[in-house]
Amino acid sequence: MPLQIIVGTQWGDEGKGRIVDWFAANSDIVARYNGGDNAGHSVTVGSKLFKLHLIPSGIIHPKPVAVLGNGMVINPRSLLDEIEMLHKAGIQVNPDRLRISHAAHLITPAHQALDKAQEAARGKGSIGTTGRGIGPAYTDKASRRGLRMADLLSADFFEHLSVLVDDANQQLGLLGAPQINLINIIEAYQHFRKMLLPYIADTSLEVCSAMAAGQRVLAEGAQGTLLDIDHGTYPFVTSSTTIASGVFPGLGIGISAANDAEVSGVCKSFQTRVGSGPFPTEVFDELALRLRGTGENPWDEYGTTTGRARRVGWLDGVLLRYAVRINGLTELVITKLDILSGIETLKLCIAYRKGGKTISDLPFGPSNLEDYEPVYQELPGWLEDVSAIRQWADLPQAAKDYLDSIARLAGVPVRLVSVGPERNQIVSNS
Ligand code: IMP
Repeated sequence: MPLQIIVGTQWGDEGKGRIVDWFAANSDIVARYNGGDNAGHSVTVGSKLFKLHLIPSGIIHPKPVAVLGNGMVINPRSLLDEIEMLHKAGIQVNPDRLRISHAAHLITPAHQALDKAQEAARGKGSIGTTGRGIGPAYTDKASRRGLRMADLLSADFFEHLSVLVDDANQQLGLLGAPQINLINIIEAYQHFRKMLLPYIADTSLEVCSAMAAGQRVLAEGAQGTLLDIDHGTYPFVTSSTTIASGVFPGLGIGISAANDAEVSGVCKSFQTRVGSGPFPTEVFDELALRLRGTGENPWDEYGTTTGRARRVGWLDGVLLRYAVRINGLTELVITKLDILSGIETLKLCIAYRKGGKTISDLPFGPSNLEDYEPVYQELPGWLEDVSAIRQWADLPQAAKDYLDSIARLAGVPVRLVSVGPERNQIVSNS
């Protein structure tokens, strides 16, 4: 199988980073195809916790080459900080191990300032963006005036940058937000240019050549299905294609690679969401605290990128079935099963109800979820701590029944289950 695609089935934060880390051990290339440093992927290796925003978590293994694809929007400052953090942790990141697409777009402080100012101007209708400049950078891309990595090589790069910053200052003025300083930005970009040039490559050529030579490519979708610009809970979405098919334009791979691709959907054993927008199975009070955790542990439900407390709820099977369809998932990976230990009765949303009618498929996708009430199947929980279990057969019967119900509802098998934050806390269903 030369291509494996890993995507989130929910609103991001499904634990994709550690699952990518699991599969990366046997991969030659680990590639990101969308988004930017709005993503936050955590991987715990022994006593070390790695928090990555841009570089795929496969970099922690010695073998794979990490690729940042053309579908991404990249803040050079965050990228250089991340490279330095990895160096300090003893992980070699050099141009042999990290390749950046010449066609990936650059995020500048102008994009970040606009993101924050536009969010503030939305008031009650705010999306709850991460403030990383993602939306404005993709806006410039779609307007065909964005700066791409290869532009760092061009003689008129700083002229182009100045025009964009001046324009952003005009928009910031209209929004009543503070101006940004062009001189500081130019100075910073002189440094970024020097540092990043050795990493820039035609990553489409490199990835396709690797696949043609029989190498294994692991493609990591950032965010999750429900944050997809077209198929998510619009307008409460990010600005990129987060679903599995985004890998083809986002990495520059031909569609025929889909024929024998594995498409793994990572799904938390309950539902979470950061930012605004509808969430039919959301829970509050004591149960919410139980699922979210207090924030003392790095794996509690607080944003890796923003630190915001995540909203939590029961697993939504209607949205999961939607994610299976939209992504063409071939299998599921269920994360954080250990968090459910000790909850007496679990609920799984199997359908929605509206106006006396029960439905299992949304008529217009997931954008007007606030109109629906969840229909739950109740299942017995389990008391046992499952975090030390490594064999499927050793899981409590109630946990196996819960996983079976998810697989039946989704119509695809569960391949792996994570039972704790550590790299080896994974149970394989084979
Ligand atoms: P943006 O991507 O910063 O524009 O944010 C748009 C929406 O996507 C907001 O609701 C964010 O909270 C959400 N979002 C963006 N990236 C992530 C992520 O990696 N995990 C979870 N939510 C995210």
